[in-house]
Amino acid sequence: MDNTTPIYSALQKYSQENNLRLHMPGHVGGDGVNAGELKLAAGIDVTEVPGLDDLHLPQDVIKEASGLLAKAFGAAQALFLVNGATSGIHALFLSLENRGETILVPRNAHRSFYGGLVLSGLKPVYIPCQIDTDSGTATSIDTKALQKLLQQTPNAAGVFITSPNYYGAISDIEKISSTCATFNLPLFVDEAHGAHFYFHPHYPQPALHSGADAVVLGLHKTWPVFNQGACILVSKKFGRWEDLFACYSLLTTTSPSYPILASIDLARAFMTSEGEKYLDSSWHLSREYHEKINTLPGLKCYQEEDWAQYTGVRQADPLKVLVSIKGLYIDGFQVAHILRNKYHIQVETQGANFILAMFAMFHQRHDWEKFYTALREIAVIYAGTSRGKTLAAIPPLPEVKLSPREAFLAPKRRKVRLQESKGLISAEMAAAYPPGIPCILPGELISDEIVEYLEYLIKAGVKIHGPRYANLEYIEVIE
Ligand SMILES: Cc1ncc(COP(=O)(O)O)c(C=O)c1O
Repeated sequence: MDNTTPIYSALQKYSQENNLRLHMPGHVGGDGVNAGELKLAAGIDVTEVPGLDDLHLPQDVIKEASGLLAKAFGAAQALFLVNGATSGIHALFLSLENRGETILVPRNAHRSFYGGLVLSGLKPVYIPCQIDTDSGTATSIDTKALQKLLQQTPNAAGVFITSPNYYGAISDIEKISSTCATFNLPLFVDEAHGAHFYFHPHYPQPALHSGADAVVLGLHKTWPVFNQGACILVSKKFGRWEDLFACYSLLTTTSPSYPILASIDLARAFMTSEGEKYLDSSWHLSREYHEKINTLPGLKCYQEEDWAQYTGVRQADPLKVLVSIKGLYIDGFQVAHILRNKYHIQVETQGANFILAMFAMFHQRHDWEKFYTALREIAVIYAGTSRGKTLAAIPPLPEVKLSPREAFLAPKRRKVRLQESKGLISAEMAAAYPPGIPCILPGELISDEIVEYLEYLIKAGVKIHGPRYANLEYIEVIE
């Protein structure tokens, strides 16, 4: 166990030296910052002066801290990210650019995958995902479907999946990684929501320890880290470190935020010494309150056995609390609204048939109790089932006419009415939340079926992410 914090300690030392700061940033350590909270952080918001190393050529405290970060996760190497998991996903995609023509990805991946496809020029081959009919959320990928796709895709550069998904379901990474190994392909995992798994044996098995070659962790999502703090981890078998580092350096700012780096450094020391204790307590609270919520009429709080009906799902994150509210006569949007306005509880997200609460290891019994008590009251007041049902969950898969990169760079685009877009190539993404599976992506053919599906979503009042015209009266197409 190593409690040293090389970056944070170097920042403290620099602050204590009380130097006249004749260097960036222009706020001069906070002198020019007019709000107390920001002034404090500005004291350690410095640039790469001697003693603070260089993110692009780490030889001193950043090198030491990234070694400690890798060790804490059991990884071969780690890279600090100061622009969220997004930048790590982009770097990993780019590192595969000259390894093949295509990449296998889940259709319901985060939008950063689309950025990675544009940057790398790789053509996506979509792995179908299964849908949970109760909540309407996408669950996992099916290893058999992946295997079949790999047999049909001789020029693939790799496989890049997401696990856990946004709702806490974990794919069977061991099976997926051995499938990838038989095709001699690297497996990358967007494990943005899973950084805490590495510090307690009752939590799902982390992707890096299940055979993934590289993972991206959004540390700010589950660790006590400032927003945008994230990292890439690679395993011993990852063979292209120099290529990855070059891509990472290309995409990373030359003015990294030291407060973000320091928060990662401190959180790593905290997790290695205290993480297990905190995670243990939250694991017990999670079990207890999952059971309590499941006694409430009209509600179902997802447990591992609920996910287990989907072949691809191996485990579930105990801190993602997905509650199906199908036994109430109000929908998930209304439940979320009531929780916020009457009980001062803000959940992570909601859909027609569910709410998703994201607990952290720092939430205590009274926080779980407050959530449970609010649900108990809501379950009594709004009992009933007169509400409409979820929409058909899987949109038809469109024909890909241009790669995401070709579509992104296409010079001519125009807006047309949705009805008139049939047979044209989309310049925009439109994804329904949930399940978060894009109905259409740039470069794909807008078929009659897709237009009908989009119209159906709009009528059903589903939230659609992506298009410039919110109600999809118009859609942008490529000439
Ligand atoms: C599954 C997943 N991957 C990647 C990201 C991107 O993370 P960040 O916001 O840290 O860039 C998110 C963000 O919500 C996400 O949910």
